[in-house]
Amino acid sequence: MEQSIAPTATAPLIDPFQRAINYLRVSVTDRCDFRCVYCMSENMTFLPKAQLLTLEELDLMCSTFIGLGVQKLRITGGEPLVRKGIMTFFDAMTRHLDSGALRELTLTTNGSQLEKFAPDLVAAGVRRINVSLDTLDDAKFAQITRWGRLPQVMRGIDAAQKAGLRVKINAVALKGFNEDELFTLTDWCASRDMDLTFIEVMPMGDIGNEDRLDQYWPLRDLRARLAERFTLTDLAERTGGPARYVRLEETGQKIGFITPLTHNFCESCNRVRLTCTGELYMCLGQEDMADLRAPLRAHPGDTAALEEAIRAAIRLKPKGHDFDYSRQVVDGKMSRHMSHTGG
Ligand code: GTP
Ligand code: 5AD
Ligand code: SF4
Repeated sequence: MEQSIAPTATAPLIDPFQRAINYLRVSVTDRCDFRCVYCMSENMTFLPKAQLLTLEELDLMCSTFIGLGVQKLRITGGEPLVRKGIMTFFDAMTRHLDSGALRELTLTTNGSQLEKFAPDLVAAGVRRINVSLDTLDDAKFAQITRWGRLPQVMRGIDAAQKAGLRVKINAVALKGFNEDELFTLTDWCASRDMDLTFIEVMPMGDIGNEDRLDQYWPLRDLRARLAERFTLTDLAERTGGPARYVRLEETGQKIGFITPLTHNFCESCNRVRLTCTGELYMCLGQEDMADLRAPLRAHPGDTAALEEAIRAAIRLKPKGHDFDYSRQVVDGKMSRHMSHTGG
């Protein structure tokens, strides 16, 4: 596991649109212990374990990206914490934080396993995490996640905060589902000193009978509702992600908006996504990908071919996604599920 990659004093990763790529999101498993209705169908077929990158290969992949200038690593899934032995991988990444090559090691999680893992994550150097949570109502939570139970996630969030992790809540804005919880969610996050970000629902994967247009609650509407009760001040700050933030003057809290549909943020995109089988997706909203597993496995102990494959892939990064619901039809739909590329 302790395979160290000599830092390459080579050119950073710059795409054809002059965007510097310094953020890698890694989906370490396509599996999840929930079945959120906007993310998965009830009967998902998951990848056979043999196709997954091993934890050692994940290390080598990430270390190679870090050698090429990646400074932020976000671990996603599926649910990253259900991958067997995942803490070994987090522990292995600590060396890049210690060396200063990596500025942030973080994860996006559904919270179900945090009660068990929060202290270990802190020990590995994780400082802040994003927890996906769309409702504070037990029954609605069970309905939207199909398999999830809210008290377990609440215990996970408690454990995370107790361990000293900063928690950001990500809520997908869903029409007719959590519209009535806008202020409840906002107040709850304020009371627990957590940031809150809303996400527009994207057309990722076939989700059975659910209809995206029925689910879609544009964030410009959500924002207008928020402005009925609070004074909103736009903030210039960025975390390196796509969210745009406002401050609620009355409470001082920060609310983020991720608006792939109503406002495209692709011009400042700084990230690529690695799947658990070693596919590199240059854009969440496009089908193009590069296989990095083949060059990794073809030359054990020599990352030159892998580095070249990464550079070649970055040269193909598209300008942006084509998600569009404006003609009352779903355009730009992706065939793969969010759990494949990790959100
Ligand atoms: P921080 O700013 O570091 O908190 O990270 P982030 O907002 O990038 O990470 P997070 O995992 O919280 O992202 C939240 C969601 O935003 C993801 O699950 C995606 O749904 C969406 N998102 C993130 N990056 C992109 C992107 O490049 N394109 C699109 N269309 N959506 C994205
Ligand atoms: N559109 C928007 N967000 C989604 N997520 C999952 N599927 C979708 C979708 N189709 C969110 C989850 C989680 C993050 C990883 O992506 O709720 O916050
Ligand atoms: Fe699992 Fe996240 Fe998809 Fe929900 S959104 S099913 S928690 S991967």
